[in-house]
Amino acid sequence: MTRLRKVVFPVAGLGTRFLPATKVVAKEMLPVLDRPLIQYAVDEAVDAGADTLVFVTNRYKHSIADYFDSAYELEETLERAGKHELLAMVLGLLPPHVRCVYVTQEQALGLGHAVLCAKPVIGDEPFGIILPDDLIVNDGPGALRQMAQRAADGKTGVLAVEEVPRSDTGKYGIVDLEAGGDRIRHMVEKPKPEDAPSNLGVVGRYVLPARIFDLLESTTPGAGGEIQLTDAIAALLRETSVLAHRFAGRRFDCGNKAGMVRATLYFAAADPELRHLVEGASGST
Ligand code: G1P
Repeated sequence: MTRLRKVVFPVAGLGTRFLPATKVVAKEMLPVLDRPLIQYAVDEAVDAGADTLVFVTNRYKHSIADYFDSAYELEETLERAGKHELLAMVLGLLPPHVRCVYVTQEQALGLGHAVLCAKPVIGDEPFGIILPDDLIVNDGPGALRQMAQRAADGKTGVLAVEEVPRSDTGKYGIVDLEAGGDRIRHMVEKPKPEDAPSNLGVVGRYVLPARIFDLLESTTPGAGGEIQLTDAIAALLRETSVLAHRFAGRRFDCGNKAGMVRATLYFAAADPELRHLVEGASGST
């Protein structure tokens, strides 16, 4: 398996769907129960073997760096109060061998541009990308780990995909597969349902070779006037194989309120102390 040492988290988005909360709180810090979205994403990266986490951030997202930094006063207080379990939780957000790097995206020019900002940190090796809005849960290996295993030669790209409703193709990068396989032939960003080559949508997980950076540098603004990662991957497809991976697991689109509520209910149903609330809620509707 390729060791996926580096994973990029593009986290400079405004989070307008969660205003007014996101006026102050980074959307990646919104919790599903007691853990912020970014924690689920980082756990998945570490599960895939990452030891370098690259956050592409901006001046409004300092709370993400604060979250992963040590909090001396809090740790001291928990220690003195004998709250060892809480202390262990606070100290264990990241394994000791994992380091965080923060890169600034000075202008909001799109996802492709955000990924390009990570180029100096990634260098010349294959890397992963996780969009924390897409929370993926399962009992076995995480989605990114599944994908890294399929990119073992270090050249192949792998994108996580799932079937989306036809009416929703305008929210996703949509892939067109070669007949009878999972090699991507073509890919288009946010097509109208009538223009979509399929209903297989890319969800926020990518394993890509470093070559993508050269391609991003020559990518011009596409859908929505933004520099799209999808367009650079469409160029990569002409040079190397890129696979669509139908991941094992369940995805919650936490970039909108319905997805956040669904994810919260899912985790509550798995929590012995909260389960009864979920059963009560479903009984009342
Ligand atoms: C981005 C990508 C899109 C992908 C989606 C997955 O769009 O541009 O190709 O399908 O993430 O969540 P966004 O949701 O940032 O608009």
